[in-house]
Amino acid sequence: MQIRKAVIPAAGMGTRFLPVTMSVPKELLPIIDRPLLQYVIAEAVEAGVEEIIIVTSPGKELISEYFQPRPALEKHLAAAGEDQLLAKVTAAANLTKVNFVLQHEALGLGHAVLMAKDAVGDEPFVVILPDDVIAHSPGAISQMVQVSEQMDAGVIAVEVVPWEVVHNYGVVAAEQVAERVHKIDGLIEKPPREAAPSNLTIVGRYILPPQIFGYLENTQPGAKGEIQLTDGILDLLQTHDMYAYEFSGVRFDGGTPMGLLRASLAFALDREDTSEEALSILREFQDRIDPLT
Ligand code: UTP
Repeated sequence: MQIRKAVIPAAGMGTRFLPVTMSVPKELLPIIDRPLLQYVIAEAVEAGVEEIIIVTSPGKELISEYFQPRPALEKHLAAAGEDQLLAKVTAAANLTKVNFVLQHEALGLGHAVLMAKDAVGDEPFVVILPDDVIAHSPGAISQMVQVSEQMDAGVIAVEVVPWEVVHNYGVVAAEQVAERVHKIDGLIEKPPREAAPSNLTIVGRYILPPQIFGYLENTQPGAKGEIQLTDGILDLLQTHDMYAYEFSGVRFDGGTPMGLLRASLAFALDREDTSEEALSILREFQDRIDPLT
């Protein structure tokens, strides 16, 4: 069945980005000139998604504002013949249909996804975490949709990380069934290295059947009092097969200041209109990298 809808949870508190997140939602922080949200929406649209459901919270109205038309600005840019800028202004709203649901309290990722139950309805959907930015063409979601069709099941994006850092991530216990594809037996959040079943760590892209909502409704709060999506998926595994897929592409963590800096540098070096300047900026710091040369 075609994946038509994407849920993007964006109601968290963004504490790792304080103080800026006191007024600017983390999901609107930019890589170069576009908010994180815009990158993940473009990735979803490329994969055939027709409707985006953003889960937001009171106080984060700036997110919905970003998708409103700007008639005065558009008129001004059109009159000035600024076609490229005009295209930038209309790009977000033109990407696809965007709807919003509210999560009144940040009770966890699982709870945020549950808030989208009515908006999703009775069909499989994709959950996208906007702070996981993935650079690749075709995008990670397109790749996952193919795997989901082949296996006729839900899919979670994973990447291999060094064992030394495995305790920072959600980890899958899984058995490899094809190239890059693993059948999931279990999931564990931030295990100590000795207890980690693998070094395949969960990245913020999930294709899920609608039955996940029933399980989330019955999921008890876990770590930090939050309703975890991984706990809901663990229950789902009792009745539904799920596969972990090692996507092609580089994941950047846009949810931390240094992760966002790294993403910004990588994207700036790759983008035609910024690469030259980005390189020359890096060269300015050459002597800081290795002061003896
Ligand atoms: P994160 O844990 O990365 O976001 O959740 P956070 O909680 O906002 O950030 P920190 O840890 O305090 O710095 C991943 C995504 O899930 C959303 C966040 O907005 C983010 O996009 N989320 C998280 C919700 O929508 N609701 C929640 O209750 C928790």
